[in-house]
Amino acid sequence: MSFDTTSLRNDFPILSTMVGKKPLVYLDNAATTQKPQVVIDAIEDYYKAGNANIHRGVHYLAEKATEAYEDSRKVVANFLNARSESEIIFVRGTTEGINLIAHSFGKRYISEGDEIIISTLEHHANIVPWQMLCESTGAKLKIIPVSDNGELELDAFDSLLSEKTKLVSVVHASNSFGTINPVKLIVDKAHAVGAKVLLDGAQAVGHFPVDMQALDCDFYVFSGHKLFGPTGIGVVYGKYDLLDSLPPYQGGGDMINKVTFDKTTFKEPPGRFEAGTPHISGAIGMAAGIRYLEALDRNALLAHEHDLLEYGTEKLSEIDGIRLLGTADEKVSVISFTMEGSHPHDIATVLDADGIAIRAGHHCTQPLLQRFGVSATARASFAFYNTREEIDHLAESLKKIQVLFA
Ligand code: ALA
Repeated sequence: MSFDTTSLRNDFPILSTMVGKKPLVYLDNAATTQKPQVVIDAIEDYYKAGNANIHRGVHYLAEKATEAYEDSRKVVANFLNARSESEIIFVRGTTEGINLIAHSFGKRYISEGDEIIISTLEHHANIVPWQMLCESTGAKLKIIPVSDNGELELDAFDSLLSEKTKLVSVVHASNSFGTINPVKLIVDKAHAVGAKVLLDGAQAVGHFPVDMQALDCDFYVFSGHKLFGPTGIGVVYGKYDLLDSLPPYQGGGDMINKVTFDKTTFKEPPGRFEAGTPHISGAIGMAAGIRYLEALDRNALLAHEHDLLEYGTEKLSEIDGIRLLGTADEKVSVISFTMEGSHPHDIATVLDADGIAIRAGHHCTQPLLQRFGVSATARASFAFYNTREEIDHLAESLKKIQVLFA
């Protein structure tokens, strides 16, 4: 399949980096994506010509900054097909988003004997906050198992669901294995027993369009930096009435209606959940990343990434001693693997000497890797700006490693 990445790659200044004498081959997009010039410009412009605190001043810059921040919320709402921008809360990232929900939803709706369902595929960010909540409330955590190819076992999910289930929180696309979960089915099954659903979209939004009204999930969270935007900014989407029923996550400035020493009243969502000065430039940068992505032909990007996944899977499968982990039918462009005789960290170090950036380790999914009997994998993860030639470099380098460690 042919796809002209050259002009797209020119939008990303960092992609012309040399690592020593080798051109950078950046295959660590599941950890963070690179930023197009328009995102860098949007952040720079904000600090050069628009910097002020928001929702507070009446002066020119304060109004300009407030407008840019609130416009960013509209961009996100539109991107997600939310019903309104009031359903969009800015947070630091996916991790803070899940913690916000665990804290606020937990306080309002979870008590002893209730059950929360997550899955074996989860990132630690979608495990630990629920363990903490269960510990403090006496609720129980139930885990959907995965099959040998890294797909959720839906029959087991069915048997975990009951009227005790208050929340199902699962990943939309796995950061370690790339598995895309059948989230609409999961939402429908959970709703049938009266449970709410949180989807961790950190690894989904940068790859394919998501639609809140079509999915009908109750919460959706993601990070800006995996969406070609800056770090330190992310989103919690929540259905408005549900958000409106929740207590604040943090207290402080800008989230109140009135404060007296006797009593404080809080703003409506989303303001209630954004205490203190937020990451204004982050929201603006993330919106610039979203605008950039939306201006591209997303079906063509998706087809290209799928081609990279198939080509990479084929190339790596040809190398003796490589074991692929996560071979689900539906995947985002992530390939996790181990190589007989070489530790994943050694693989990553040797690849780095060839200018190739991958991630090695447990990818914050220790229970998932334990299920597959390994403590670490090497992971190559692609974005639309990657090419087949880069995968050829990866495969050549891996063959060298094989000889080196033989
Ligand atoms: N969660 C990110 C990853 O998978 C950091 O690499």
